[in-house]
Amino acid sequence: MLALALEWLNLLARCTHVIAAIMWIGDSFLFMWLDSSLAPPSRKREGDVAGELWMVHSGGFYEVVKRRYLAPAELPPRLHWFKWEAYTTWISGIFLLGIVYYFGGGLFLVDRSVSAIGVPAAIGVSLALLLAGWLVYDALWTSPLARRPAVAGLVSFALIVALAYGLTRVFSGRAAFLHLGAMLGTIMAANVWRRIIPAQAHMLAATRAGKPVDVTYGERAKMRSIHNHYLTLPVLFTMLSNHFPGTWGHPLAWASLVSLVVLGASVKYVMNFGVRSNRWIVLAGAVSFVGAVTLAVRAGAPAASASAYRGDPPVAFAEVQAIIARRCVTCHAAKPSNPAFAEPPQGVRLDEPQRIVSLAPRILARAVVTETMPLGNLTGMTPEERRTLGAWIAQGAKIGSTSPR
Ligand code: HEC
Repeated sequence: MLALALEWLNLLARCTHVIAAIMWIGDSFLFMWLDSSLAPPSRKREGDVAGELWMVHSGGFYEVVKRRYLAPAELPPRLHWFKWEAYTTWISGIFLLGIVYYFGGGLFLVDRSVSAIGVPAAIGVSLALLLAGWLVYDALWTSPLARRPAVAGLVSFALIVALAYGLTRVFSGRAAFLHLGAMLGTIMAANVWRRIIPAQAHMLAATRAGKPVDVTYGERAKMRSIHNHYLTLPVLFTMLSNHFPGTWGHPLAWASLVSLVVLGASVKYVMNFGVRSNRWIVLAGAVSFVGAVTLAVRAGAPAASASAYRGDPPVAFAEVQAIIARRCVTCHAAKPSNPAFAEPPQGVRLDEPQRIVSLAPRILARAVVTETMPLGNLTGMTPEERRTLGAWIAQGAKIGSTSPR
C-alpha cells in the first residue's frame, strides 16, 4: 500500500518537477538568447536602451526593447517576474529526493559495495550537502575573489571535482550523480531567491522612490543568472544519468561525472556563441565527451566481451536460475517479496526461465558489466556469481545444457 502511494506521489512530483524545470530552463535560454541578440536601437528611443530586437512567433510580431532603468513615471502597472518556475522546480525536486532516496529504506541512496554508511547518516549527508553547497558557493562569489571570475571559477570547478570524488565514495553511483546535480540545482534556485530577485526588487524600489539606481545590483544579478545558465545542462545531464547505469556503474564514475559537468557547460557555450567562438571551450567539451565514453567503455569492456570467459567451464541453466532466484527475484517477480516494490521494478520479471533468457543482454549490462544490479547489492551478490552469469551469457544464454567450446 505504502509502495503504491509512493509511486503515485512520485509520478505527481516528477511531472511537476519536469514541467517547472522546462519553464525555468526555457526562460533562462530565452533571456540569454535575447541579451545576445539585441541590436542597437534602430530609431530614437527614450531612456537608457541596452538594445532592441524583433521576433515573429504565434502569428504575430513582437518588439522587445531592453531598458537598464525606468523613470518612476514609466513604471508599468504590471511587470512580469520570473521566479516561481525556479521555486517550483526546487520544491518538487526536494520532494522527489525524499520520495525516491529517503523513503523506502534508502534503497537507491546507499550501496553496500560502496560504503557502510547507514541510511539515516546518508540522509544527513544529503541534506547537509544541499545547504553547504549554497553557503560555500555564495561565500566564494561574494568574497573579493569574485572580482577575478577566472580564479573564482577555477576554485568552484576544483570543488566540484572534489565533491564528485567524495560523493561516489559515500552514496550509490546513481545517488552520487543525482546529488551533485541536486546541489547545483539548489545553488541555482537560491541564486534566484537570495540574489537575483532581491537585486531586482532593490532596483525597482529605488526607481519607485525616484532615487538613482545602483547599477552594480543589476550587474551582480546578471552574473548569478549567467552561472545559472551554464549550470542548466550539467544539472540536466546528472538528472538523466539515472537512466544510464553505464555512466555511474564503474570505479572511475567520479571522472565521468566531472566530464558530464564540463560537457554540459561547454555545449551551452557553443549553443550560445557557435562552434568557432572559443576553440578551448569546444575542445574541453569534445575531450570531456570522448573521456566520459572511454571511461565507461574501458571499465565495462572486459566483462562484456565473450573472450573474457573463454576458459570458463560450461554453465548449466539451473545454476543461473538459482543465482537469479537468490539475488534478483525478491524484487523482479510478479509479486516482489521486497516490501519497497508493489510491482516488479520497470516491469522486469526474472521469475521464469524464458524471461531470464530474453533479458540476458540487460542482465549482462546491469549485473555483470556495470554491477548496478542487484540494487545497492542488497541481496549480497558475489563476484563469482557475476562471473557465472557472464560466462553463461558468453556461452549463448541457453536454457538447454551448453556444450564446451
Ligand atoms: C532490491 C531490489 C532489486 C534487486 C534485488 C534487483 N533489482 Fe533490478 N531493478 C531494481 C530497480 C528498482 C530497478 C529500476 C531502476 C534501475 O533501472 O536502476 C531495476 C531494474 C532492473 C532492470 C531493468 C533496467 C535495465 O537497465 O534494463 C534489469 C534488467 C534488472 N534490474 C536486472 C536485475 C538483475 C539481473 C538482478 C539480480 C542480479 C536484479 N535486477 C536485482 C531493483 C532490484
